[in-house]
Formats: sequence, C-alpha cells, structure tokens
Amino acid sequence: MRLHHIKANAFHAPTLAAVEELPDTLITCDDQGTIVAVTPGGDHADALRLPAGQVLLPGFVDLHVHAPQYPQLGSALDLPLEDWLQHYTFPLEARYADLDFARDVYSALIDDMLALGTTAALHFATVHVPATNLLADICLAKGQRAVIGKVAMDDPAACPDYYRDASAADAVAGTRAVIDHIHTIAGVGGLVAPAITPRFIPSCTDECLHGLGQLAAETGVRVQSHISESDWAHGYVQDRMGQSDAESLAHFGLLRPHSVFAHGTHLSESDMALLRDHGAGVAHCAASNAYFAGAVFPLRRALDMGLNTGLGTDISGGPSPSIFEAARMTVAASRIRQRGVDAAAPSDQRGTGEAPIDMATAFHLATRGGAQTLGLPTGSFAVGMKFDAMAVDTTAAAGTIRPFGATGLRLLEKILHTASRPNIAAVWTDGVRRV
Ligand code: GUN
Ligand code: FE
Repeated sequence: MRLHHIKANAFHAPTLAAVEELPDTLITCDDQGTIVAVTPGGDHADALRLPAGQVLLPGFVDLHVHAPQYPQLGSALDLPLEDWLQHYTFPLEARYADLDFARDVYSALIDDMLALGTTAALHFATVHVPATNLLADICLAKGQRAVIGKVAMDDPAACPDYYRDASAADAVAGTRAVIDHIHTIAGVGGLVAPAITPRFIPSCTDECLHGLGQLAAETGVRVQSHISESDWAHGYVQDRMGQSDAESLAHFGLLRPHSVFAHGTHLSESDMALLRDHGAGVAHCAASNAYFAGAVFPLRRALDMGLNTGLGTDISGGPSPSIFEAARMTVAASRIRQRGVDAAAPSDQRGTGEAPIDMATAFHLATRGGAQTLGLPTGSFAVGMKFDAMAVDTTAAAGTIRPFGATGLRLLEKILHTASRPNIAAVWTDGVRRV
C-alpha cells in the first residue's frame, strides 16, 4: 500500500549541525514515494495518523554489510582478521554456490534488517554471480534500497583455490554481469543499484584492480572496498604497493564519487583528503573496529575535514545487525578515543582530546550522512527525498524504551539509546509499507 499523506511527530537530522523536531507534521508524497510537501501543523483527510506515543524517524542507512556472513553473526570474533577470513569467512562464503542456501539466508537477512529500521544498505555479496543477482532480486522484492556488489578476489597469494575468481578477467566479467542484471531488474537509479567490489587490495591482483578501475570509469558505477582496516591489512598493502590503500585505490582509478570504503582506522590525514577530493566516503564500523582493528577510526577528524561518512554494522565483523547498536558504539568509541587529557593529572593522560561524537551526530550519520555518502536521495524528511522511514513505538508496552515524559531531543536520545526491534512498529521505503 502506497502512502500519500502521513501525520506524525517526526525527527530528522538533515545536516551534521542540527537535529530538527517536526511536531505534528503532515508529510505528502507523490506516486513514486518522493516527498513533495512537509507541513508542520498541516492536515489531510486521508492522512495516516501515527498513534499517540509513536515517533517517525528516517530509515537507517547501513554503509557496510557482508550479506553472506549473516549465519556467523556474533561468533568467532575472538580471532585475528586474517585467521577469521581463512578459517570461517571464506568457507562460509563459498557455500553461496548453492542458490537454495543463498535464498534462505538473504531472505532472513533483508527481513531482519528492515524490521530493525534499516531501509538502505551497501552490501558485499560473494564471488558468485547467480547468488549476487539473487540478493539484488530479494532486496528489490522486499523493498530494501540497496547497493550490491559481486565480490572480486582473484589473487591466489591471499585467496584459497576453493573460493576466488579464476582470473582477473573473470572477476571483471562477473562484476559486469551483475551490473547488467541489476540495471535490467531495477533500471539505472532505481531502488537497487550495483557496486564494483574489490574485496580489499590484498585479495586482488594488480590486473584485477586495474580492470575494475576501467569498468568504473566506463560505467560510472560506485566502488566499495575495505581500506586500511587493521595493522595487518594496512601493512600488507604498504609492503606490496609501497604506498597506502588510499593511494593505491587512487592509482587504479577506484576512488570515485559516492564510493564507500569501510573501516579506515589507519587512514592518514592525506589519505582522508584524497578520499574527500575524489568524492568518496568512509563506512565507520565502530564495533567491528573494536574486534579486528583494536582501534577507533578518527571520525571527528574526518568530519572536521569534510569527508563524507556514515555508519556500518559490518555484518558479521561486528556482532549486531542493528544501526541503533552501531550508533551507540560510535558514541561510546568516540568517548574512549577522546578520554580527557587532564593537565592536572598528566600521568593519567590517554586519548586524543578530540571532541567526542554525540548521539545527535550519530543520528545524522545513521540517516542522511550515510545516504549522502552513497549519493542516495533519502535520509531526511525534505522535499525531493524518497520517503524511507520507520515508526518507533515509545510506549512502555511496546519494547525497551521508557520515555518517563521526556520530550524533544531528550526523547530522541532515549529512543536511539534504548530502542529494540519490538519498538519498530512500521517501516516504509519509496512510500510503500514494508514492515
Ligand atoms: N577484509 C577483507 N575481507 C573482509 C571481511 O569480510 N570483513 C572485514 N571486516 N574485513 C575484511
Ligand atoms: Fe567488512
């Protein structure tokens, strides 16, 4: 059922600077689910009225998901990244040669993400073209706005024989086949879009990276990859290429507008400037960074220099599929990174002294910030945006939120800090109810 008018108490964060409350506001959408009017105090006879206690928020954008890793979510995170990949992740991803297995997992994942309010996501699939096409079909059928890539990984030095592209040419041809499939089912600029997806530099030969860069230039399709994630991954690239991940990606033509690179805990300021100047951005995966990088991405510095950034769960490098949890971890990690430099007690000095990230900023990154990074017309309740939203039930019977009379920004903070899946009463994308 397509919605044309909804009347609700809403919050959104259209810019980094401000959360706006839209009390008792009428939002009007056209037949394509694009917002055409936002009228505080307005009304319409046919409007859907959210019940008392429900609050309307923009849907969340998850900038980094490994859809095939959902079966191992919340397990094996005690291993170093390189062992986790070889012993758990590659064997699991290899199973997506089986389309029945792929269908079961991908259907459950997209249902769960939508139920958690994640209306848009940037997905890594696997090396398999048919299963990647299937993930795109499922996102389109269930209505998740999604950018999806077939994983390219062809280097026998880093990838097992049982799970890799047979050659650089195969990696590029398979990537092209998925781009064609997605453009056929969803159109160009539709609800589902393709991404060119070199897994990370260590998994790809120079020939593969070069071919994918050419494909990006030819098609204009976004790129996604991992960047300077951990000491091991960052050092591997330095040793092989004699330069950083960002410099190597630029060399191969893989830093492109609205491309998204995950983690970046070891990005230097000049690496960040390189990403920014190419119109690329970072997926900040605070939970995963705690487990695999043992480090906190310098998010405050990135924001101060104008680098586009959003939040990622990194399913399954992070243990939660929820962007609520990603926002909480973002705030907590920034507090640990900042931890007071106390002139009066120098022996207790630790942390950078950078300003921390508050929940209002995390809310922006989880919504409009992520959408802007990916170049998607969503993430706020502004005219021209697609209506991708969730209704959050804050009443005591609904779930884990206890408002105790809080209003305004304090209520929003409570929602973001304490909501759980039962609090999500309804979810829409393109103005169509999905949950
Ligand atoms: N680096 C290369 N592959 C992966 C992956 O699947 N997850 C994470 N977190 N890092 C990676
Ligand atoms: Fe990842």
